[in-house]
Amino acid sequence: MRAVILIGGKGTRLRPFTIDTPKPLLPVLNRPFLHYQFEILRAHGIKDVILCTGYQSAAFRRSLGSGRASGVRLRYVVEREPLGTGGALKNAELLLASGEPFLVLNGDVLNTLDIAAFLRHHKKQDASVTIALTKVKDPTLYGLVKTDLSGRIREFLEKPSWDEIEANTINAGAYIFDPSVLAQIPGGVPFSLERQLFPHLVASGSRVFAFVSAGYWIDIGTVERYRRVHLDILGGHTPFKPSGSRKGRLLMGSGVKVGKELTYGGGPGTIVLGPGTTVGDFVRFSGSVCVGPRCAIGKGAWLADCVVLEGTRVGDGARLERCVVGAGCRIGAQAALTEDAALAGGSEVRSFSLL
Ligand code: GDD
Ligand code: MG
Repeated sequence: MRAVILIGGKGTRLRPFTIDTPKPLLPVLNRPFLHYQFEILRAHGIKDVILCTGYQSAAFRRSLGSGRASGVRLRYVVEREPLGTGGALKNAELLLASGEPFLVLNGDVLNTLDIAAFLRHHKKQDASVTIALTKVKDPTLYGLVKTDLSGRIREFLEKPSWDEIEANTINAGAYIFDPSVLAQIPGGVPFSLERQLFPHLVASGSRVFAFVSAGYWIDIGTVERYRRVHLDILGGHTPFKPSGSRKGRLLMGSGVKVGKELTYGGGPGTIVLGPGTTVGDFVRFSGSVCVGPRCAIGKGAWLADCVVLEGTRVGDGARLERCVVGAGCRIGAQAALTEDAALAGGSEVRSFSLL
């Protein structure tokens, strides 16, 4: 089976980080996010992957190339103007001409979906489209899906308001399509799978079925969730294993140097230190922390449940608490970044600042 990944969005809810890097390439535990999707696809024997790009298209080719290093064969489709999720898929039609059902994934979702069972379900129901569902507490942020007892979808409501909510099952951002459905999408114009195609298919009686997946699921599209995916992986809530050599709670890349008397708090957790990073004496870590490659953490700094991207310098005694710090930042001594701070790449925070 082939897979199409939709990666052309601007990632506005994950600014400032998506200004420099498109969302699906942002590092998660120091690897581009898409590598995790490739890992899941490869585990199910899917190697033929079509990437529908738009925003910062060239960055994907630069980072991922032919895909050989990731064990997949990548082909790129580029939109000059954003075509929406449906228009993007239509744009890839020529590469999907084999007549076989194909998989479509949103490029910002980590989902330990059983793809083989998903495909079996699709075939058994003889569906036009099968949509993977997951359960969330706040469906207003997603596409609400209502099904009947047979699992057939009766309503698809993108970003519903609270008074429209009667279920907690949402579109998990993974679909299996019968290729004949592509004929229902107009070519070369913006078109939405969620706001146009799916409601239309449901209303016109097409066989649209749900496949409820119980695995780990997250959409990394906000700063809070981007940070959370790191903590979830480091907390062992997913099947993914971060790499590095372990020493107590530290997981270190090559060339890492750590000072003396480091202390740890905040229950169990793992501290990832990217290659070439240095950590000064008396640094305190709490919970799980991910520090990117070539960073420098000053003496006596305190880092709790935070993510620090490549090449950032954190001054002596600075405090980073439940925040995300972009690449190449300079944080002065004794400065403090607190809950939900999101510091754009290249920022300078002067000593003693409180953010
Ligand atoms: N090529 C291309 N062109 N890709 C696009 C475009 C476009 O114009 N617009 C969005 N995408 C890609 C994004 O890059 C992302 O990977 C994916 O489509 C979904 O877009 P988001 O902007 O992240 O959508 P969302 O999170 O608000 O909602 C979607 O995902 C939810 C699950 O995470 C919808 O599919 C919801 O129904 C769903 O519940
Ligand atoms: Mg999203």
